[in-house]
Amino acid sequence: MHVHQYEKLWLGAALVLIVAIIATITYGTVGLGIAMVDDSEETVNPSNLGEVEGFDDPGVTQVGENEYDVHVIAFQFGYEPGDEQLFEPIEVPEDSTVNFYVTSSDVIHSFSLVGTNVNTMVIPGEVATMTVEFDEPGEYGIVCNEYCGPDHHNMEGKLEVVPEDEFHLFELEGVEAPEDDEVELGADATFTATVSSDHHDERIVPVTLEIGEETLEEELAVGGDASADLELAVDTDALGAGEHDWTVTIEDETADGQLAVLEENETTEE
Ligand code: CUA
Repeated sequence: MHVHQYEKLWLGAALVLIVAIIATITYGTVGLGIAMVDDSEETVNPSNLGEVEGFDDPGVTQVGENEYDVHVIAFQFGYEPGDEQLFEPIEVPEDSTVNFYVTSSDVIHSFSLVGTNVNTMVIPGEVATMTVEFDEPGEYGIVCNEYCGPDHHNMEGKLEVVPEDEFHLFELEGVEAPEDDEVELGADATFTATVSSDHHDERIVPVTLEIGEETLEEELAVGGDASADLELAVDTDALGAGEHDWTVTIEDETADGQLAVLEENETTEE
C-alpha cells in the first residue's frame, strides 16, 4: 500500500501532539507537586486535636539531619503556629526538607504559601500532607484560599526560612527560683532551668544566668525530643544583701524575676 508522504507527515504530527498532551496533563497533575486531600489521608477528630499526636503540640520537630515535620492547625481565623498575633511564625532552616501536616479544628480552610505552588485544602477530620524543600532563607505569607467565614480575608500567617545558624529548636520551659524568691545571705541561691528540645538528637545548649553583677554560664545537654533540667547555684555572699534582678537566657529566650537576699534574722514580713 502506498501512503502519501504528506499523509505520513500528518500522522507523525498527530502522534507527537497526542504524546505532548498526555505529558502535559501528567506533569500538571503530579509533576508540580499539587496536593489534593483524599480519602486515603489519615483521619483525626477535629474537636479533639489536643489528644492527637503531633497536633497536641503543633509546630516544628526535627526528624532527620535536614528534615523537619511541621504540624499546623488551621482555625477560624488563623494558623497555629504561623499566626503572628496569636502564636509565632513557623520557622525552619534553609536547605531543609519540610513535611507539613495540616488539619482544621473547625471548617474548611486552605494552607497556601504565597508565591509558591504549595497550596492545599484543609478539611476538618483529615490531615493534608505536603513535602517542600527550602533552599534559601526567605519569608512566605500563609493565606487561606477557601472562604471560611467573616474574617476569612484576615486569616494569614508567616513562614520564615532562616539561615542554619539562626535556627534552633530549644525552648525555655521555665525557671524555678529559690522558694518565695528569697534566700539568706551566705547560702546558695539555686535556680533550676528546664529546657526542652525538638531536635532529633542530643544537643548542647548554653544557659546563662545573670543576677546582680554575677554571670553564670553553663552548658546543658538535652536529648532528642526531650527536656532536661540545669541547676545554677549562685553564692549570695558575692551578691550581697538586697533585691537582685535575675535573667536566665537560652538562645533568644529569657525568663526573669527578682531575688531577695536577706541578712540573718531578716524577714520580708514587717
Ligand atoms: Cu480560613 Cu478562609
